[in-house]
Order: sequence, then structure tokens, then C-alpha cells
Amino acid sequence: MAICLTAICPAQTKPDPDKGNEVFDEQCAQCHTASGDERKAGPSLQFLFAKPKLESNGKPVNDANVREKIDTGGKGMPAFKDTLAADDKTNLIAYLKTL
Ligand code: HEC
Repeated sequence: MAICLTAICPAQTKPDPDKGNEVFDEQCAQCHTASGDERKAGPSLQFLFAKPKLESNGKPVNDANVREKIDTGGKGMPAFKDTLAADDKTNLIAYLKTL
């Protein structure tokens, strides 16, 4: 994995699912499993992007609506709007697509 100092690092251009996996383990795994259909506090996120609709609000599963859910949370899920960087969310979504 690339290590770089923010000062000399170019802005991220490509989503990195490995980094997203790290964010998931730190921020999401206590409430969501990434494999199997076990329900923790929230639903399993395996196959999320294979589903037509989000279980929580019925919206189509796409980058924008998943990002919106991460930003706003609700019904037991914290809002990550101000606690996660935009790149972290981009990486997270790339990771969720691999599940
Ligand atoms: C404290 C527990 C908790 C944490 C931490 C948490 N979630 Fe959730 N999450 C939930 C709950 C509960 C729901 C169901 C909410 C609802 O029905 O509106 C949910 C719903 C979701 C959904 C919608 C699933 C669907 O099918 O509608 C997504 C996507 C999601 N979470 C992603 C994440 C991500 C990514 C993280 C980490 C950044 C995260 N969550 C962290 C509890 C949590």
C-alpha cells in the first residue's frame, strides 16, 4: 500500500477498495457484517450493490444514495457527514462494491 505525506501527495484520483476496507473495519464493522446475512445493529452490507433498492429507504442502490445514507445515517446509524473525509467515503463505496 502506498504511503505518502499529504503535502506531496496528489489529490486522490482513483477509489481504493483496500483503504475502504480499513475504514469499514474501523467505522462500520461493529454494526454491519461484510459477509453473510447476519444482522448486527444494521443490515449485512454483503451484496449491497447487487440489490435493486436500499432496505432503509427504498431508494435505488447507487453511489449517490449510498453516500447519502453514510452522510445522514438515521434509525440507529450515526451520520458520517463530518466525521469521514470525502476520499474515505469514496474508498468505502469502492469496497462495498466488492462484497
Ligand atoms: C452504530 C451502528 C452503526 C454504524 C457504526 C454504522 N451503521 Fe450503517 N446502519 C445502521 C443501522 C441501524 C442501519 C439501518 C438504518 C435504517 O433502517 O434506516 C444502517 C444502514 C446502513 C445502510 C443502508 C442499508 C440498506 O440496505 O438500506 C448502509 C449503506 C450503511 N448503513 C452503511 C454504513 C457504513 C458504510 C458505515 C461505516 C462508515 C456504517 N453504516 C456504520 C447502523 C450502523
